[in-house]
Amino acid sequence: MSEQTVHPAIDLSHPPAPNMVRVTFLPEGHTIEFEYGTMPYEHHGKPMSFLDVAENFNIFLDHACGGSCACTTCHVWVKKGAEGISEPEDDELDRMETAADVQLNSRLGCQAVITGPGTYVVEIPSWNRNYVSEGKPLALAESKS
Ligand code: FES
Repeated sequence: MSEQTVHPAIDLSHPPAPNMVRVTFLPEGHTIEFEYGTMPYEHHGKPMSFLDVAENFNIFLDHACGGSCACTTCHVWVKKGAEGISEPEDDELDRMETAADVQLNSRLGCQAVITGPGTYVVEIPSWNRNYVSEGKPLALAESKS
């Protein structure tokens, strides 16, 4: 079973309140929650994208191009909440053609925007998981020791 980091105030046995957004990042199981419309924009990817959420809560989601739809390092699989996420635009669809391990639920984390309150679960593919949970790539963490 993977280690889970859930904010102490989040009760996973109940759905989020009607105005709240709950996002879980797998496989680590980091779950965060915030009131829809209140999250500041961190200038990585589109506002309210999964990358923007991850940056706001110090959850590592690789984003080599800075969130401008010019790489595929922010690739995620949407496991829950797809109906509440923006439709992919042509540039995202074109970029995804170059991604590894594309599935029907694949999206670019910097382009997939949460459009309303609800529960969302995304998984970061295995080839993007070689990172420590504190938000820094493993290679960087090792180089500092
Ligand atoms: Fe490069 Fe999303 S960070 S496409």
